[in-house]
Amino acid sequence: MAENTVMEKIVALCKRRGLIFQSSEAYGGLNGAWDYGPVGCQLKKNIKDHWWKTMTLLRDDIVGMDGSILMNRNVWKASGHEATFSDPMVDCRTCKGRFRADQLDSTPCAQKPSKCAGQAEVCSLTEPRSFNLMFKTYVGPVEDESNVTYLRPETAQSMFVQFKNVLDTARKKLPFGIAQIGKAFRNEINPKNFIFRSREFEQMEVEFFVRPEEGPAWLERWLEERLKWYESIGIPRSKIHVLNVPAEDRAFYSKGTYDLEYEFPFGIQELEGIAYRTDYDLTQHQKASGKPFEYFDEDSKTKFIPHVVEPSAGVDRTLLAVLCQAYDEETVTDEKGNQEVRTVLRFAPCIAPVKTGIYPLLKNKPELVAKAREVEALLRPHMAVSYDDAGAIGRRYRRQDEIGTPFGVTIDFETLEGVREGELAGQKDTVTLRHRDSMKQERVPIVELTARLLQAIG
Ligand code: GAP
Repeated sequence: MAENTVMEKIVALCKRRGLIFQSSEAYGGLNGAWDYGPVGCQLKKNIKDHWWKTMTLLRDDIVGMDGSILMNRNVWKASGHEATFSDPMVDCRTCKGRFRADQLDSTPCAQKPSKCAGQAEVCSLTEPRSFNLMFKTYVGPVEDESNVTYLRPETAQSMFVQFKNVLDTARKKLPFGIAQIGKAFRNEINPKNFIFRSREFEQMEVEFFVRPEEGPAWLERWLEERLKWYESIGIPRSKIHVLNVPAEDRAFYSKGTYDLEYEFPFGIQELEGIAYRTDYDLTQHQKASGKPFEYFDEDSKTKFIPHVVEPSAGVDRTLLAVLCQAYDEETVTDEKGNQEVRTVLRFAPCIAPVKTGIYPLLKNKPELVAKAREVEALLRPHMAVSYDDAGAIGRRYRRQDEIGTPFGVTIDFETLEGVREGELAGQKDTVTLRHRDSMKQERVPIVELTARLLQAIG
């Protein structure tokens, strides 16, 4: 499949099946903003829950927090964002477009899309200028300079600013981390590739505080931990490229950064950054606020500013990688012997938005419907299920395949009358359990269903 075709198919599937819609679609949309529909928001939640569980619930050395999006403007002065969080951009005097100066060779000209911006004869570009990516806003009713602040461009800063409060209340010793999942906003000049680069997105970040001498070793440990996590949601190591960012491309305060890059259909692009930020952020906030941001070491009775290693992932980019990894098409033979192409999202069961489809074979047979509703009531407290009685059973399977539901349970006449042949011959109250990936079907007693499914979902 051609690369752009895969992306087009994924975007179309996301709309058709209620995963992702263009924001404000009825009004022509808003560039760089997306809405997650019923299936997409559950997938997103499952990814975030899985990250949260791995990072906080399963560890003793990381605690969570949920910071506000609006912060005192001085935070952004101290962190350096107000002065330096910018991209170089150029304006075209002809089409009035604004483009990233460092991405001109991958940006089509608005007037002559077969050429890149700046390369058509009609183009007339200005010299590059710095464009701050933070969304500016005013706190309170008066729109003057003294009330300016910004929508946060990363979740990290609230974890630095609250370092002392968390340290004192959670009573942690080094090494320990703070984890946060939340919205971030960047007025990207060139949002593109579906949800890959948007203006409103979510991050999952950990600020991990360590003794200065332990920083380099923790950078390596976090690299391994994060690769393992991606594997646990179905993204194999072989599809992730680890870029050891050269010193000249790193932030000046970083003593080491790994970018985890995924093989998206549109190219190998960053999924997550793991940065050894040294003591830069806490030192900046100590200087700017005049408050102490030090750690007191009980053993040596000394005070120092801890160093930080930060694994910072994008929720939306992870979701896009998961979608690209899961998307598959295969030719199959239907019940009537016809060949058709099956589209299937092969999500890891732990993040699949719906875990099990429940289908009465026929919807006009009250006994089948009653039993199917019984099975639904049995499973629903344990997992996300979808009850579907509309249309031929093959069509229902295909619909669930398209949203990546790993299991299907069909209630048929053998459920009511007893199994006709095989190991379970004569037994009533069994169902057909269908597996999404292999499309294999097996007979399972209803009493064993919950445990079987929970074990497979993980
Ligand atoms: N606190 C560090 C930080 O924010 P970053 O590399 O700028 O570092 C971290 O962002 C992650 O956030 C990226 O690896 C990416 O997954 C996600 N991200 C950044 N900008 C994004 C955007 N415009 N749209 C979607 N995700 C974005």
